[in-house]
Amino acid sequence: MRYLIEDIKNTVIQGDALEVLKKIPPEVFDMVFIDPPYFLQLKRKRLKRWNSKTLVKGVFEEWDRFSSFEEYDGFIESLLLEVKRVMKPNATLWVMGTYHNIFRVGKIMQDLDFWILNDVIWVKTNPMPNWLGVRFTNATETLIWAVKDKSVKNYTFNKEYAKSFGIGKIGANVWMVLTSTKEGDLILDPLAGTGTTGYAAKMLGRDFVLIEKNPQYVQLIRERLFPFLDR
Ligand SMILES: C[S@@+](CC[C@H](N)C(=O)[O-])C[C@H]1O[C@@H](n2cnc3c(N)ncnc32)[C@H](O)[C@@H]1O
Repeated sequence: MRYLIEDIKNTVIQGDALEVLKKIPPEVFDMVFIDPPYFLQLKRKRLKRWNSKTLVKGVFEEWDRFSSFEEYDGFIESLLLEVKRVMKPNATLWVMGTYHNIFRVGKIMQDLDFWILNDVIWVKTNPMPNWLGVRFTNATETLIWAVKDKSVKNYTFNKEYAKSFGIGKIGANVWMVLTSTKEGDLILDPLAGTGTTGYAAKMLGRDFVLIEKNPQYVQLIRERLFPFLDR
C-alpha cells in the first residue's frame, strides 16, 4: 500500500519512520527537517539538574538507546536513504544535532552523496551548565543544511530573509522554514517529537507531513496542532 500525498498532507502518521517512509511516493517534499536521537549514552539516574536535583527527562527515553555506534549509524543511514528518495530533486535537508552525534551524521550524509551547503550554529541562551566544572558548557547545537547531491543548483534560499534576521531574534525552526522554503511548500519531519516543525510550517503558510513512533508524542502533536490538522 502506498499513500497518496494529498491524503497525508497536514497529518501526523504514527509509526516507525523507516517503515512509513517506504509507503510515501518518491520526490514529493520540498524540505525535510530531522532532529534525530542524539545517542547520549548516559547511564540511568545520572543526569540530574544541579539546582533542583530533578532528573533530566528525554535522554533516557527508549528512542535514545542504541546498543552501539554501529547500530546508531545503521539507523541514520537507513533513514537518510529513505529521506533522499522522498525529497524533490531540488529539495533541501536540515539535520540537527549536538557534538554527540552530528559528526557521525555529517559523515554518513557525505558518504550517501548529500552535498552540504552550510553548517549553522544555534547558540542557546539557556544551556544546561556543566555543574562539575570539568569541561565547557555545551551551549550550541549544529544544523547541517544539504541538497541531495553536488549537481543540485536551484534549491530555495531566501537570502533577503537570511540577511534580515539578527542572532537570537527568532526561533531556529521559524528561521529555517523562512530561509529555505516558499509559501505552499511541503515539509517532512520524520522524527517529529512534539511537532514543532509542523507548527512552524503551518504558522508560515507551508504544509507538512509528520511521522512519530511514540504514541504519547503523537497525542501531544494532535492536541498542539489540532486546528492545523487535515484529519
Ligand atoms: C530528538 S526527538 C525530536 C524532537 C522534535 N524536534 C521536537 O520538536 O519535539 C526525536 C524523536 O524521534 C522519535 N523517533 C525515534 N526513532 C523513530 C523512528 N524510528 N520512527 C519514528 N519516530 C522516531 C522519538 O520518539 C522522538 O520523539
